[in-house]
Amino acid sequence: MKVHFIGAGPGAPDLITVRGLNLIRRCKVVLYAGSLVPREVISEAPADARVVDTALMELDQIAAEFAAARDAGLDVARLHSGDLSIYSALGEQMRCLDSLGIEYDVTPGVPAFAAAAAALSAELTLPGISQSLVLTRTTGRATPMPDGETLATMGASGATLAIHLSVHNIAHVVAELTPRYGADCPVVVAFRVGWPDQRLVRGCLADIEGKVAESGVTRTALILVGWVLGAKDFKESCLYSRGHGRTAEQLA
Ligand SMILES: C[S@@+](CC[C@H](N)C(=O)[O-])C[C@H]1O[C@@H](n2cnc3c(N)ncnc32)[C@H](O)[C@@H]1O
Repeated sequence: MKVHFIGAGPGAPDLITVRGLNLIRRCKVVLYAGSLVPREVISEAPADARVVDTALMELDQIAAEFAAARDAGLDVARLHSGDLSIYSALGEQMRCLDSLGIEYDVTPGVPAFAAAAAALSAELTLPGISQSLVLTRTTGRATPMPDGETLATMGASGATLAIHLSVHNIAHVVAELTPRYGADCPVVVAFRVGWPDQRLVRGCLADIEGKVAESGVTRTALILVGWVLGAKDFKESCLYSRGHGRTAEQLA
């Protein structure tokens, strides 16, 4: 018996991996994390599977589901939105499974930041502008930011930022980043990327707060900040330039 953690992707049902979908199709217990996991994906579970929405459950109750599946000898597909490596509560569930002596593995998913970049047809690292992407968030009700990870600190390098779980905090985002990035730095607020009601609110640090207020977006949005957004004037990478050696080693 095993628990398979699966990244279900950002919302579009065809953005789950083949491996993830195959696991769902053969697991007799499917636990999924609320409304951000698409119904179409959950409906791939076997007809007789036990399917449970864990959105309102506490860790102890989820642990009880894991233990019951173990006692019944049933594999579990445990679905979370996006990818499991960020903001997924994977860590505490794996710790719990370790204490129960239950095996697990992890199947990655398409994270929201990658889906948002794709929706914008944007590369988030452009030569000469930014070569780094910071995945971060602001302090929420449940999770305070560690002292060294304030938005001002994260933005000090000028790197592209993908700010999660923070659209309700947009005024703070603007106040923290404007001194470093400048008021005219491009910002996109990507709401429910991959869902039928997807919306992309484009602006700059000076006007994004007003645009977000107008849009009515209050949750499930990613804030992308950086000069790569919409940039046309950037250097080419060496990857395809004439005269640049292309040995397998250099391309790695
Ligand atoms: C609990 S975190 C989950 C992140 C997820 N593990 C990932 O890989 O993207 C939820 C936050 O991720 C972002 N997010 C998740 N799905 C999204 C989507 N479809 N569109 C835009 N942002 C999304 C939002 O910032 C949201 O507040």
